[in-house]
Amino acid sequence: MDNRPIGVFDSGLGGLTAVKKLSQLLPGEDIVYFGDTGRVPYGSRSRETIIKYTRQDIAFLCSFNIKAVIAACGTVSTTSLDDVAGDFPIPCFGVARAAAVKAASVTKNGKIGLIGTTASIKSGKYEELIHACDPKAEVVGRACPLFVPLVENGRIHKGDAVIETVAREYLLPLREAGVDTLILGCTHYPIIAGIIGEIMGCGVTLVDPGAECAQFLAQRLAESDGLSEKNAGGRCAYYVSDSTEGFSRLASLFLDSDLAGDVKQVSLDTF
Ligand code: DGL
Repeated sequence: MDNRPIGVFDSGLGGLTAVKKLSQLLPGEDIVYFGDTGRVPYGSRSRETIIKYTRQDIAFLCSFNIKAVIAACGTVSTTSLDDVAGDFPIPCFGVARAAAVKAASVTKNGKIGLIGTTASIKSGKYEELIHACDPKAEVVGRACPLFVPLVENGRIHKGDAVIETVAREYLLPLREAGVDTLILGCTHYPIIAGIIGEIMGCGVTLVDPGAECAQFLAQRLAESDGLSEKNAGGRCAYYVSDSTEGFSRLASLFLDSDLAGDVKQVSLDTF
């Protein structure tokens, strides 16, 4: 048994997709979430900058004596986590591996679509992880840099002309390429899964990296006797690096619970 909390981080709201799944699977676990809202988006920045931010994010979460961390950010998982994870005394899990394993296992025609930030697509990491599972799989990738700022600004609802126009522009070529599986390779994207799913059509399976990674971690903790003693009542503390207001409102909407008062603003300058 291990009652220490689990750390989860992202550049902003996207990592809440992992938090939501973790809380469903392991309702007794305490979670500490960090959203780097003062520096979002990560995906258009250089690798060196993303490495620096990743190190600070994990160091901050380690100050809560966590037992494991989920890098619930596709960009970090593909671009910086391998460089940084070894510097910390706790296991660090990235969302990309779990998503790649899932996509390779569900595709029937071997054509996997991949959408992500510019940094994630440029890294080639998802392809590497998919080909480790299925060397013959064809991966059709597309960077969707406008999705993260739109989601962070609350443009997440069906019928919103801006997000729907942008989504059609990004996704129609993938649909025409005949993919039967689509990795939502940035954790912000499942927040607009309804819009994405409608454009791709019901024959395309959407893979949610945050949810897949949460499932993987739950299994690992169970196998290693690392679960908390509690079966319910886990608490989640939220920290952000910019003002709490916008984050609280959108996070409450996404998690379907009122987080006002549970979100605190912090500075990572000393980490
Ligand atoms: N949720 C992050 C990801 O999964 C967004 C990255 C960004 O801030 O650009 O890639």
